[in-house]
Amino acid sequence: MPKIKILPDVIANKIAAGEVVERPASVVKELLENSVDAGATRITVELEDGGKRLIRVSDNGDGMSRDDALLSLERHATSKISDVKDIERIVTLGFRGEALPSIVSVSRAVITTRTDSEISGTRLVIDGGVLKDVTDTGRDRGTDVEIRNIFYNLPARRKFLRTESTELRYIKSIIYDAAVASPSLSITLMSNGRTIFSYHGADNPQDMLLQIFGKTMAGHFLPLRVEADEAVVEGFIGTPETARTSNFYQSIIVNGRPVRSKSISRGVFDGYGPMLGHGSYPPFILYIETDPSRVDVNIHPSKREIRMHREYVIVQALKDAVSRTVQTLRAAPTVERPVIGDNFANRNEPGADQAQAQSYGAWRRDTYHGHNYTPQSVKDSDQTALSFPSAGPSTQNLNTDPVQKPYVEEGPSFYQLKDRYIITTIKEGALIIDQHVAHERILYEEVLDQLRGRTPSSQQLLFPVTLDFSAADFDVMEQMLPFLNRIGFSVREFGERSVIIDAIPSGPIRFDDGAILREFIDEMRTHGAITSGYLEKFAAAVACRAAVKAGKPLNQTEMQYLIDRMFATKEPFVCPHGRPTVIRLTLDELDRRFGR
Ligand SMILES: Nc1ncnc2c1ncn2[C@@H]1O[C@H](COP(=O)(O)OP(=O)(O)OP(=O)(O)O)[C@@H](O)[C@H]1O
Ligand SMILES: [Mg+2]
Repeated sequence: MPKIKILPDVIANKIAAGEVVERPASVVKELLENSVDAGATRITVELEDGGKRLIRVSDNGDGMSRDDALLSLERHATSKISDVKDIERIVTLGFRGEALPSIVSVSRAVITTRTDSEISGTRLVIDGGVLKDVTDTGRDRGTDVEIRNIFYNLPARRKFLRTESTELRYIKSIIYDAAVASPSLSITLMSNGRTIFSYHGADNPQDMLLQIFGKTMAGHFLPLRVEADEAVVEGFIGTPETARTSNFYQSIIVNGRPVRSKSISRGVFDGYGPMLGHGSYPPFILYIETDPSRVDVNIHPSKREIRMHREYVIVQALKDAVSRTVQTLRAAPTVERPVIGDNFANRNEPGADQAQAQSYGAWRRDTYHGHNYTPQSVKDSDQTALSFPSAGPSTQNLNTDPVQKPYVEEGPSFYQLKDRYIITTIKEGALIIDQHVAHERILYEEVLDQLRGRTPSSQQLLFPVTLDFSAADFDVMEQMLPFLNRIGFSVREFGERSVIIDAIPSGPIRFDDGAILREFIDEMRTHGAITSGYLEKFAAAVACRAAVKAGKPLNQTEMQYLIDRMFATKEPFVCPHGRPTVIRLTLDELDRRFGR
């Protein structure tokens, strides 16, 4: 008897599922891709319990005949490639014939489907990869795939699934990617019976940007087009002030496939030059169209990364194009920004081929011309950034405990070094305080106290600020809203995806016309789905973002305020992330160093 055995299909599929199916979002991604490949124009995704109990993807695509439906469950069964040359030129999102067999091997599935040429449709019931039932069924043309209890037969993996809200977050991100990648498609996302996102296929890019990003963000995208090395790159980049603190809003679509690429993201970032600081991520959507034979899509288990022939040439051209595009902002700082809605072939790229022979798909070719959309380009309000309270009334507003300052000597003896460190003398020598970190510590404790019941104090805004959000941002905003209102903001929902801010916490927090709320959103998206510890994460996010930054000049009062308040905190010497806030330099040490 040989020792080596060929595994039965049921086991082989389960093993393959380990690669393809990581969590409910991977199932949603694969099923969406299949629907897109089947030419669907309308797709509905229904979820229960963040996809853990149920994922149902219904489309109005071509459907499958009974024979095809049965074959689709076999490993390496695909209608998308047929010979070895096809692997070199993949034009569909799927190509391996692995997704469905993998998914159904780790769940209980029901597939119903019908093609135009068949009178009745087919219904398949599959349990853990084993076909249980095949029947006729009536239905419209198209396919529904229903996946229940993912990993029910792999308890070790099911244990690793996260909370409903976390899984939902992953799924939403897949849905937004799909909408950006196939903008003329209509997609509805429902969770536990409620529609939570609905995207009506856009017939022009402005409409797409508005639906996905909301008015404010959509109004800050600049069109860009560049041709390089037989590739055409078209899309939008955000103005520098829209840069975020995570890459959530960076979309790269290569021949219709959403992918990640560090080198492309980096190229765009570099194009902004000194307009962007370290750690900022400009939003962008870039559609790259190139001959499929120049792209290897088969290098990543979930097809999220690709390899592009001579990518560095495209990256360099993109960087130059970004740089030219953002220069147009410099040239005309107040009026007439290039706004979305212009024909991008004619903007920014004098040498671009205006015939747009290779531009991205019919949708964009047809709809870019003749639209004259002028977005609201600058925010409505004149609210300026808050400054520090001067000594006097507003400082007393702060509703704080009596301040003790054990170390600091009397007198206005603060010195600010490089707009970053505060130096002050004490009896034994000097203290060097990191202004940002110190403020972070102060805010962290304040915010936590308020979340736990201490009444915050607020200051009314002279001009309330209205902000509108992308769907993805608004989700996070909605979760944060009650907590913001507990720490001295007064924020209420207004319209579908907007809020009005009437008041903000007293004290020297950064507000920047509300931009700070977008920073909170990025921070919470990265660090805190609602689980235990939400309050701490929220407090840390607020503290980190609202604290005065390095690089801000401070006056004597402001420095005094920070130091006084810092020493009144419970743990003055470390910031919430554990970094030191203050370094003490004693006279003894100085003497020693000078060899006295
Ligand atoms: N929603 C759908 N509508 C019509 N046909 C479908 C649908 N979903 C799957 N199919 C058919 O089933 C086949 C198998 O799907 P599956 O996702 O397993 O493989 P694939 O899409 O070909 O490749 P990949 O594994 O890369 O996704 C597809 O090639 C397609 O012919
Ligand atoms: Mg597929």
